[in-house]
Amino acid sequence: MHEKIAVILAAGNGKRMMSKKPKVLCEVLYKPMLSWVISACEKAGVEKICVVAGYGHEQVEDSLGGGYRIVLQTERLGTGHALKMAGNFLKENAGSDLLVLCGDAPFIDEKTIGEAHALHQQQGNSVTVVTAELENPFGYGRVLREGDGISGIVEQKEATKEQQKIREINSGVYWFKTDDLIPALEQIKNDNAKGEYYLTDSIAILLSSGKRAGAYLAPNADACLGANDRKTLLELNRKAAERVIEKHLENGVGFVSADGVVIGPDVKIGAGTEIDPNVILKGKTTIGENCFIGQGCVLEDTTVGNDVKLYAVQSEGAVIRDGVRIGPFAHLRPNTEIRAEAKLGNFVEIKNSVIGEKTAVAHLTYVGDSDVGCGVNFGCGVVTVNYDGSEKHRTVIGDHAFIGCNTNLVAPVKVGDTAYTGAGSTITKDIPDGALAVERTDTKIVEGYAYRKLKKKK
Ligand code: UD1
Ligand code: CA
Repeated sequence: MHEKIAVILAAGNGKRMMSKKPKVLCEVLYKPMLSWVISACEKAGVEKICVVAGYGHEQVEDSLGGGYRIVLQTERLGTGHALKMAGNFLKENAGSDLLVLCGDAPFIDEKTIGEAHALHQQQGNSVTVVTAELENPFGYGRVLREGDGISGIVEQKEATKEQQKIREINSGVYWFKTDDLIPALEQIKNDNAKGEYYLTDSIAILLSSGKRAGAYLAPNADACLGANDRKTLLELNRKAAERVIEKHLENGVGFVSADGVVIGPDVKIGAGTEIDPNVILKGKTTIGENCFIGQGCVLEDTTVGNDVKLYAVQSEGAVIRDGVRIGPFAHLRPNTEIRAEAKLGNFVEIKNSVIGEKTAVAHLTYVGDSDVGCGVNFGCGVVTVNYDGSEKHRTVIGDHAFIGCNTNLVAPVKVGDTAYTGAGSTITKDIPDGALAVERTDTKIVEGYAYRKLKKKK
């Protein structure tokens, strides 16, 4: 078995998107198109990936994190020229099978990649082009079939009237024998209508040196869909959203209406979970079984257990355990864990904290940088005062503590197990287990005050 490597062509600037981002970072279901392509490669068992970046290559690098080779194409001289920029990567991986893809066609999938590779090996091809049959092939390179292989690809601009009628198009995805491609790349010229180095010319070059060229017709024509402008990007989003929802329906997830429901391609949802309209689930969010995700929830990289009920919750990077109920209008920020059967109510924000089992934080409360035990009750309007203007400090609250309404807990501070704070207290000292801390002056009663004031007015 040859090692499988991939080069993703991604140097396009995407002028027509009118975005500051490079085109390949434009998102479908909140995932950059380039990441869709990378996911497909990885699922298909490609071991090494090299991205040819150009415009906005720093942004491309940032978005990918480590683990990928990035090479630069400073001038956009065509797909053949782009691949040449990965020349060192190709030479270092002699003997491999090379997959070439476009960073702006996110629907390429592991099945198409795998089946094309099987044909590539079976036919002993030097190049196997992934093709698709389109109703409207305008703008694409047309595939010229010959015998059980192909004799070339002709671009729209160079195609004769007859060739323009061909509906089988080049998806822009290819398998090459790396060792055969390296010398062929050197021979590509730019004497064509666009004055570009066409990668597609490598086919005729390989054939003329006695190699074989084949084509794998993908049953799923969407695999070659790309986005060039906002309108096509929206169309890709619509198609992807429909497909994702279909998958979840098959897995037993319920929807009253899919209107306004946007679920990222990597989100996992358990059977029996019901999702309201206007819910957005992004990134690596995972939801368990028999949950209810109410309208207005936006969950990103959030882990949700089983039997959880969420109403208008915004969450980034939080973990919500089984049987928790949150909302409406609550905000969970990164590094937060809400343990089993806890309850959070309206206008509650939790950041970088653990909320223990069966703890209730019912209304208008901020908990930041805190470790809260189990069975704790928060009155309305509690604030953990975690920031002194230069540093953040932690608050620790023991099991079954009772935090009175409008308590300020000035961190660093510790509230003991089953300890109480009186309503309106600003707590600056640790409270021992079982104690009560009150910090307020006695109430002063001024008899008849209002009546006297009223008399004066008259
Ligand atoms: C290319 C193919 C065409 C195919 C179509 C599929 C060639 C000559 N033609 O045409 O047969 O049907 O894709 O979508 O290859 N890129 C670079 N650097 C460059 C030029 C392009 O990185 O200098 C990247 C683009 O960012 C894009 C991909 O290569 O991701 C394809 O380039 P594009 O200009 O869109 O090629 P097409 O003319 O559409
Ligand atoms: Ca294109």
